[in-house]
Amino acid sequence: MSKKVLLSGIKPTGKLHIANYFGAMKQFVNLANEYESYIFIADYHALNFIKNKEEMKQNITDVLLDYLAVGLDPEKVTIFKQSDISEHTELTWIFDTITTMPYLELAHAYKDARAKNKEINVGTFNYPMLMAADILLYNPEVVPVGQDQKQHVEYARDTAQKFNRIFGETFKLPKEIIMENTANIPGTDGRKMSKSYGNTIPLFAEYEEIKKCVMGIVTDSSGGIPQNVYAIHKLFRSEEELKKIYEEKSGKYKELKEALIEDIEKFIAPLRAKRKEFEKDIPKALAILKAGGEKAKIVAKAKMEEVKEKIGVNVY
Ligand code: TYM
Repeated sequence: MSKKVLLSGIKPTGKLHIANYFGAMKQFVNLANEYESYIFIADYHALNFIKNKEEMKQNITDVLLDYLAVGLDPEKVTIFKQSDISEHTELTWIFDTITTMPYLELAHAYKDARAKNKEINVGTFNYPMLMAADILLYNPEVVPVGQDQKQHVEYARDTAQKFNRIFGETFKLPKEIIMENTANIPGTDGRKMSKSYGNTIPLFAEYEEIKKCVMGIVTDSSGGIPQNVYAIHKLFRSEEELKKIYEEKSGKYKELKEALIEDIEKFIAPLRAKRKEFEKDIPKALAILKAGGEKAKIVAKAKMEEVKEKIGVNVY
């Protein structure tokens, strides 16, 4: 029996951080044996934020190295980039024609940008439709993501249902996988950890950088347990172990931060070393990405043919 399909992706908009790892990437690695997996770099989504050729190239290569360093095995996982598969943007257009503006106006990212009076480009408004196309082209059963992407997967599901209703059964309905304990990981200031808030701990940080990030964690002065330190520490140790440490060092914020620095370093050091190995041969890494694109293209092209047949543009 063929395996069920898993798909997910990350935008190359800057250094990946530990919340990207625990919220999503760890699941990509853990589920790779169980599912036929497609993991991609969402570079066209990133184009909403990055308008600089060199930066885009660097970010794409960085995410690729990150994927390899955390243990995504190209023998098992199809690793590719969105812009190599033109079917993503092609299907987006078709979804646009069955999607209403008021429906897209409900998207959290759009509403946030509106609330902040930001200038909103059409790409940002349409973001959920490109994401629906990313997902639905590959017939995945599951999409592992953090909580902030839940609504986007719901958009994909709704869009699949709508298309199926109008044109006949074509798309599988995907379901998000969100890990309860790591759905919404806080950053060093207690808000959601996010590249855009500058409150991250980079996944491949050097020791000094880890130290700086952790020492910068905002601590509340009430009670013996600095909540923001504890919330991040939970990623690296069981609550049982932490209970002991936090009782012993109650109120000693500096010492608790030092304990966290050591635990993060223990976790990151082997990842950092692996990444440095992959960095030595970037052409080899890029060849993996290209080959993954060729594999993904076959699946996406077949799905797109099916879509074209259903909507009636295939006249030859
Ligand atoms: P992106 O690039 O912002 O984030 C990558 C993954 O990391 C998760 N994540 C978090 N999880 C827990 N706590 C946090 N603080 C945290 N911050 C980030 C995200 O939920 C995500 O799973 N739109 C997507 C990229 C994308 C995609 C797709 C994902 C494009 N097309 C199709 C899945 C399927 C995004 O911007 O993720």
